[in-house]
Formats: sequence, C-alpha cells, structure tokens
Amino acid sequence: MSRLIVVSNRVPVPEKGKAAPAGGLAVALQAALKERGGIWMGWSGKSSGEEETPQIKTIIDGKITYALTDLTDRDVEEYYHGFANRVLWPTFHYRIDLAEYGRKEMSGYFRVNRFFAQRLAPLLKPDDVIWVQDYHLIPLASELRKMGIKNRIGFFLHIPLPPADVLLAMPVYDQIIEGLAQYDLVGFQTDYDLANFVGALVREGIGETLEDGYFKSHNRIFKTGAYPISIETAAFAAYAKRAVNNAMVKKAASSIIGHDLVIGVDRLDYSKGIPQRLDAYERFILANPAYQGNVSYLQVTPKSRSEVPEYEAMQRQLAEQAGRVNGELGTVDWVPIRYMTRSVARPILAGLYRLAKVGLVTPMRDGMNLVAKEYIAAQDPDDPGVLILSRFAGAARELKSALLVNPYDTEGVANAIARALSMPLEERKERWQKMMDHLLVHDVTEWCNNFMDDLTHVPQEGDHAALL
Ligand code: ADP
Ligand code: F6P
Repeated sequence: MSRLIVVSNRVPVPEKGKAAPAGGLAVALQAALKERGGIWMGWSGKSSGEEETPQIKTIIDGKITYALTDLTDRDVEEYYHGFANRVLWPTFHYRIDLAEYGRKEMSGYFRVNRFFAQRLAPLLKPDDVIWVQDYHLIPLASELRKMGIKNRIGFFLHIPLPPADVLLAMPVYDQIIEGLAQYDLVGFQTDYDLANFVGALVREGIGETLEDGYFKSHNRIFKTGAYPISIETAAFAAYAKRAVNNAMVKKAASSIIGHDLVIGVDRLDYSKGIPQRLDAYERFILANPAYQGNVSYLQVTPKSRSEVPEYEAMQRQLAEQAGRVNGELGTVDWVPIRYMTRSVARPILAGLYRLAKVGLVTPMRDGMNLVAKEYIAAQDPDDPGVLILSRFAGAARELKSALLVNPYDTEGVANAIARALSMPLEERKERWQKMMDHLLVHDVTEWCNNFMDDLTHVPQEGDHAALL
C-alpha cells in the first residue's frame, strides 16, 4: 500500500489534557489516519513573528507522523485571516456580501501555498499518494507540479461549492479553478456541490465532462466525485453510551431533571445560523408558553477565527442576544438559554447529545455538518431524540428522516422545535433507526476508503497526456 501524505492547513496534534479543536476536518481525518497511518503535514497554528520559518518539526503519535511548520505573522494575516477566511470562506458559503477581496491577501495565499509545496517536496517518495484538504490549499498541486512532482494528488473540499454566479463574483475564480484542475481527483461533499462545479465550468466554456466522472479543464484530465464525509459512528455511539458515568454529563443530567433539553453545537461562525436559531427558539417559547420553565436550550459554541472582524462581531452579537432572551424570558429558577463558548472533550459532547431530546442543526449553508451525524450516533436506541436539520447542510442529502427545515424561516424552525418535543416515541425510533443504519454503513472509514480507492486508480501525471 502506498504511503499516504495528508496536507491541511490545520493539524490537530493531540495534546494531553486538551480537548481536540472543533472542526469537521480535524475530527474526520484524525479518525481516518489513525487506522491507516501516514504523514500529516500543515501549519503548526503558531506564528514565527517576522522570521522566515525554520525547518519542519515532526511529532510521532502512533501510526501518524505530524510534520508541522510555523508561518510568519504576515503569512497568517494574508493567507489565513485574509484570503482563506475573508474571500474563499464567505464566497463558498454563498455570502459574497461578506467577501473582502484584496490583492495583497490573494498574493499572500498563493505565496504560502508555494511555501507549503517547498516544505512538502523533500518529504515525498515517488509512490506516495498525496491528499490535500480544503480551501486553504487549492493551489498546492499546481505548485508541486511546477516543482516536477508527478505523484497522484487528490483534493477534498470540506465546504460547499456554490453555483456559477456566486463563484464568479470572486475576482480570481479562474486561478482557483485552474488550481483545482492540477489535481488527479477533486472530491466534493455532495452531488449538489459537484453539479455546481461542473455546471460553472461547462457554462463558462472552461471545462468539458468526460465519461466515468472524468473532467477536462485547463488542458488536464482529472476525476471528480462526491464523497460525503462522515464520523466514526460505532465508536461515537459507544462513547455516548459510556458517558452516563462522566461527572460533567451527570451534572448536566441532574440540572435538567423534569426539563427537556434542546442542544446546538457549532463553531462560532456566521454560516452556522446561530442568531437565526436563537430567534426561532425564542419564538417557540413565546408561542408555546407551556414550555416556559420546562425546556432548556444548551448552545455550545467555541470561539473561532476571532481575529477576523465578521467573527468578532458575531461573538458580540450572540452574547448580547443570549443575554437579552434570558433577561426577557428567564425567571428566578429558569434560564431559557445556556450559552457556552468553550470546547468540550468528545466523550462529554457525546453524553450531552444523548441527554438532548432535540438536536438543532440549522446552518444557513454547510459543506456537510458532522454535528448532525454525531447527534444521531449518540442517541439512546430505546428513547432517541429528534434531529432538526437545515436543508442547506450537506448532511441533509443523507439524513432525510430528520425534520428538515429552512433556517431562513424562523417560524418554520420554531414549529419544528414544538413538533420534535412532542413527537411520539414510535415515530422518533423509526426516524432515528433509518439514519443510524445509514451512518453505520457510511462512516468515516468508508469515506476515506472510497476517496483513496479512486485516487489510487486514476492515471498518474504523465499518463494523462494520452487521454487529452
Ligand atoms: P465545521 O467543520 O464547519 O466546524 P462540522 O459540524 O462539520 O463543522 O464539524 C464540527 C466538529 O467540531 C464536530 O466534530 C464537533 O463535534 C466539533 N465541535 C464543535 N463544537 C465543539 C465543542 N464545543 N467542543 C468540542 N468539539 C466541538
Ligand atoms: O471543516 C471546515 C473547516 O474550515 C476546516 O477546514 C477547518 O479546519 C475547520 O473548519 C475549523 O476552522 P479553522 O481551522 O479556521 O479553525
């Protein structure tokens, strides 16, 4: 079996006594690499200040070797805070109104990708398979190709891929697409994202569909496909079952005796629809006074990308909003919204999901949303909770037995909360079972194997020439 080299911006090196960072990419790849082993290269998360960074640092943990590099302050600012999180993230989440396009940030993005390629190249052996993750690193293959690297290189986009008119609003869209065309396999979360990609390129006359998922663009032939990311379903279910014995979960359980618990778990991000969700919950309470004092909503939202102005503003907005709702609706013995901005360890998270009668997952747009899948995996089969899921999360393509909602429709979400809380046991069990059966088969191992099988079977660089 070829050696696997994963490259991603964020590399969650496990640290004793510290909760794993929130984020679907970290959680899924940790699970995938743990079994197969390999090298995981990327940013250490640290800045080297003004200094050009020293050599790669390696840390070995089980079968995984982490190869980490620091970035300079300027790199972090232009590449990560700048182009990745103020241009690509909002645009790909259909928020062109929030995109702040700047040439300095764009050139920083390409410069850091070149830097990653220079650091990665000396680690490579000819038959290594390289798997690049997410929007931070789209130009990486192009930089590696310029250095003569002929290995198979795959790319997986963890976030949505918007339709042509949204994508084209980004001034450098063509360079981004050209970057994608340098891979041998380009994977998306859902068939919708794949259709948007193909549709945009064909419409603009810069791509042509071939057979078997192959695609031709920018003088290259590469494979495309939908590979819905998933979780370690069975392991997560086991965590949740064991979590009843966890001290923090016990505390949470005793604090909701006689109450129903509704849970929301998200990185603090405008794409997650948290303010809209709080509005819907408030509306639900106002429309259903019998629930006053009888339901608690726990929102666990670790801060994320705080240096980016839109995220900082959202932190303030959410704190104010939760405070206002609690002030207006709360009583001496009831807090309607419990709001936490900390990460919690995964076993505890699993236990909290299991305590909750309703999982509220209502992003305005999301590549997949692993929280939706974790909520299902964590349920008690004899008394499962109900998942309320945004139709604009990739997960909605699979979890069709959830209560699917439109997060822009506050009243609709409020009604769904009422319906979920009063849903009969038989209906809850039936809906849950269908989704759990699906997730037990389509777990993160399957995701990884499907992508890797396709990547190891695409023609290698050089063999493409015959196909052109
Ligand atoms: P994204 O990748 O956009 O953050 P996902 O829902 O796909 O969204 O993945 C989020 C991951 O981060 C999930 O595995 C979830 O359990 C984890 N996570 C989210 N919030 C927390 C938290 N407060 N503590 C620990 N893990 C969290
Ligand atoms: O899953 C999407 C994603 O953007 C990942 O690429 C990223 O690691 C995660 O969310 C968390 O974001 P960040 O790495 O910016 O904290």
